[in-house]
Amino acid sequence: MDKDIYILGIESSCDETAAAVVVNGRTVLSNIIASQINIHEKYGGVVPEIASRNHIYNISPVIDEALQVAGVSLHDIDAIAVTYGPGLVGALLVGLNYAKALSYASNKPLVGVNHIEGHIYANFICHKELEPPFVSLVVSGGHTHLVYVKDYGKFEIMGRTKDDAAGECFDKVARAVGLGYPGGPKLEKAALDGNPHAIEFPRAMLDDTSLDFSFSGLKSAVLNYLNKAEMTGENIFIPDVCASFQKSVTDVLAQKALLACKNKNSNKLALAGGVSCNKALRNEILKICTENNITLYMPEPIYCTDNAAMIASCGYYEYISGLRSPLSLNAYPNLELTGA
Ligand code: KG4
Ligand code: ZN
Repeated sequence: MDKDIYILGIESSCDETAAAVVVNGRTVLSNIIASQINIHEKYGGVVPEIASRNHIYNISPVIDEALQVAGVSLHDIDAIAVTYGPGLVGALLVGLNYAKALSYASNKPLVGVNHIEGHIYANFICHKELEPPFVSLVVSGGHTHLVYVKDYGKFEIMGRTKDDAAGECFDKVARAVGLGYPGGPKLEKAALDGNPHAIEFPRAMLDDTSLDFSFSGLKSAVLNYLNKAEMTGENIFIPDVCASFQKSVTDVLAQKALLACKNKNSNKLALAGGVSCNKALRNEILKICTENNITLYMPEPIYCTDNAAMIASCGYYEYISGLRSPLSLNAYPNLELTGA
């Protein structure tokens, strides 16, 4: 039998410092995440400089803990996988430089991982039977992509947002209705007490055949609704605003994901990214997939938001395909998902 491959994953692209040990790309031995939510909450969003400084405090203990919980030492690790983009440049550099130093000191190969690609690979951790090809809907704070995963490391971007990402839109609307940061989960909670049909917000680009998204019009529509209510002194029920906004986003995401599956004749759809924690979205997409005989794959919520196990999984597939990154690897805040 082939030797097991142990990958240490490191992630620091936004406000989570994370490290994980994953065997053969699919079995998680440890998944340590130091969240900075409490620190950034009072500013209403992530402050990049503060995020970088906290990564510096957290990175060493988080990696030590990941190795300890996994019951391995650096000696047992075959390669070090690290996110090198996209993300906040200062934040990325902390994880990347630490990974490079570890790689140099321990003489273990370095494998740079694209964060968006990592989100997709969370599905391989949670669904051992899943193999490409399949369609993936990646919905995070910075990205909204429909991706055709042809094979490991081989992607075709079928559609993307032309403006705001879905998560960004959740965060901005949450802030506008006074829910604060992190917006997505707070808005989802508030929406539980609201009526999703109370207000008719726009569903941009739902009628055309393009697989691109646009969420800035929806965001403006919510802001206009709030401003108008304030000016006319009309009473508004915030949970209705949240539920109606959420319904608008989930309808568009679900319909476009279905269209992407139809275009590729794919009967497999995999969700990825922080917004895919959202239960209204999960339920809507599950309903549509069931009606259309599509198998839906959804990572557990802890693997939807930022984590290093997904980076280690992606790193594993790159490692076995022979990819090695040089110690000169830089951080790329706007790194695109490529690999056709
Ligand atoms: O993937 P992620 O952790 O980080 C990025 O790569 O951006 O995604 C974070 C985004 C944030 O915009 C957050 O508000 C959103 O995911 N999010 C949610 C939920 N949980 C996280 N959005 C809607 N509903 C949720 N339950
Ligand atoms: Zn992410």
